Amino acid sequence: MKNIAVIPGDGIGVEVTREAVRVLDTLAARGLPLAHRTFDFGAERYLRTGSAITDAELDTLGGFDAIFLGAIGDPRVPDHAHARAILLGMRFHFDLYINLRPARLMDPALSPLRSADTEPIDIVIFRENTEGVYAGLGGRLRRGTVDEIAIEEDVNTYRGVERIIRAAFDYAVRHQRRRVTLTDKANAMPNAGGLWRRVFAEVGASYRGVEREAVYADALAMDLVRRPSRYDVIVAPNLFGDLLSDLTAALVGGLGLAPSANLHPGRPGLFEPVHGSAPDIAGTGRANPLAAILTVALMLSELGFEEDAGRVRHAVESALQRRETTPDLGGALRTEEVGARLCVSIA
Ligand code: NAD
Ligand code: IPM
Ligand code: MN
Repeated sequence: MKNIAVIPGDGIGVEVTREAVRVLDTLAARGLPLAHRTFDFGAERYLRTGSAITDAELDTLGGFDAIFLGAIGDPRVPDHAHARAILLGMRFHFDLYINLRPARLMDPALSPLRSADTEPIDIVIFRENTEGVYAGLGGRLRRGTVDEIAIEEDVNTYRGVERIIRAAFDYAVRHQRRRVTLTDKANAMPNAGGLWRRVFAEVGASYRGVEREAVYADALAMDLVRRPSRYDVIVAPNLFGDLLSDLTAALVGGLGLAPSANLHPGRPGLFEPVHGSAPDIAGTGRANPLAAILTVALMLSELGFEEDAGRVRHAVESALQRRETTPDLGGALRTEEVGARLCVSIA
């Protein structure tokens, strides 16, 4: 039996998680050995109690086989304190150094690109997830004055860089991928860039069958739009991986279709759609639950339930073909209708 901790979170996180859990329950009813327990971490609780998540609660989460998260973020918490405590809290506490963000075009009609009819898009971003400018090293002096100084340090360690690069090459070998692209700003940030490029060359040299190249992050943003099918596995520092994974999501149908996994091999993973709590559409029934449902598929793969993961992916592709989708993908269904129909095809 695998035990999943479920954190719906805020805004549409709650709405899409309801559908993801419905999928889990449907698979459990078919015999998949899965149980889940819901946790109330999010803005509501933070505003009520002042506590976003405690160390003891983080330890409790560590006892599960996987954690599923909807999204965290609420306009009533403008400084995002609870989001950093919960989301970055879990990434850092469990040292989930791999943020894996796949973007595969499942139907040419979903892409804003003209070339999508003829060129496949199947990109996997390996985003470093525990360092960079997300490390929280820095501070502010003379706050609120015209002399204010704000420092956000970019932390890059040999060990941190080495393990994410290795994870990207290992993935390339396991999944018969032809190329790993490193992205950085080594031209403007030569210290971090120098370390990343050295390690990329050193580690990459032992993966003989896999091509490697380095592309500046600004040029890559442009080239991903111009000729996305050229790209395969991309390894990126934390911030560039964050930006580029919203871009690759847009190439294949938008944030409503983008899943992600935060991983440290051998430890429980944290699985979440790439998107946030979308306060602009929360409560309207327009939230696309397919990113959350594809995230379930990613979680099932990691837990070793490859057949069920395939079943979920196939059901999503069929829903796309039939245009049984929310308005962001051109359909006319509500969040819960997409989830309900999907479960019928999985059952
Ligand atoms: P967002 O991803 O929530 O939304 C960006 C745009 O995409 C919005 O117009 C939204 O309506 C649309 N969108 C996103 N997901 C969608 C879906 N499933 N179906 C249909 N449309 C969808 O990003 P944002 O607006 O920049 O952030 C909102 C809040 O979420 C902020 O507080 C932010 O910090 C937080 N956030 C949290 C996570 C997370 O918990 N993993 C990720 C990103 C942003
Ligand atoms: C993501 C989000 C988070 C990040 C925010 C909410 C802190 O944008 O998961 O992509 O920047 O990592
Ligand atoms: Mn992001």
